[in-house]
Amino acid sequence: MKKSFICLVAVLFTLSVASSAFASKCPQPRKTKAAPSNVAKMDKTGKADAAHGKALYNKKAKPMACKNCHGAKGDGAGKLGKALKPAPRNFTCAATMKKVSAGQMFHIIKKGSPGTGMVAHGKTLKDKDIWDVIKYIRSDLMK
Ligand code: HEC
Repeated sequence: MKKSFICLVAVLFTLSVASSAFASKCPQPRKTKAAPSNVAKMDKTGKADAAHGKALYNKKAKPMACKNCHGAKGDGAGKLGKALKPAPRNFTCAATMKKVSAGQMFHIIKKGSPGTGMVAHGKTLKDKDIWDVIKYIRSDLMK
């Protein structure tokens, strides 16, 4: 009895260490496919509204606020994100994010990333809303 309890504690400890290491992994492997090149080159963040993007990211975006998976700091350690494989993108990881253009982000936020937990937001967010979120991520969360 006592032995199995110690065993359980050891397993839980290992799991929590493993999951925190996983969440902050950098460089981070990417399962998401490349956007069509004409979309990947787009960037409409110039006139976008980062404050509105922040509200969407943390709370208002449907079907689910980005924070739940990508984390309040953008490090991919959101509550739901911890259970996902592949893990949500860690926006704070410059080594991985340097390969992810604003247009690439736009495409994936709109259409989702098949085979991952990244859901499409194109039916619930307008294009302008998506650019606002991208502006927030790129100006406040990315390093
Ligand atoms: C249910 C969890 C979940 C939610 C909610 C979510 N994402 Fe994701 N996101 C993921 C996962 C998982 C990936 C895929 C990681 C990979 O490519 O390996 C991802 C990938 C991405 C990427 C990376 C694209 C690339 O090419 O690498 C961007 C950008 C992104 N999400 C933005 C957002 C934004 C903005 C929101 C809110 C509007 C959001 N996500 C909501 C889980 C989520």
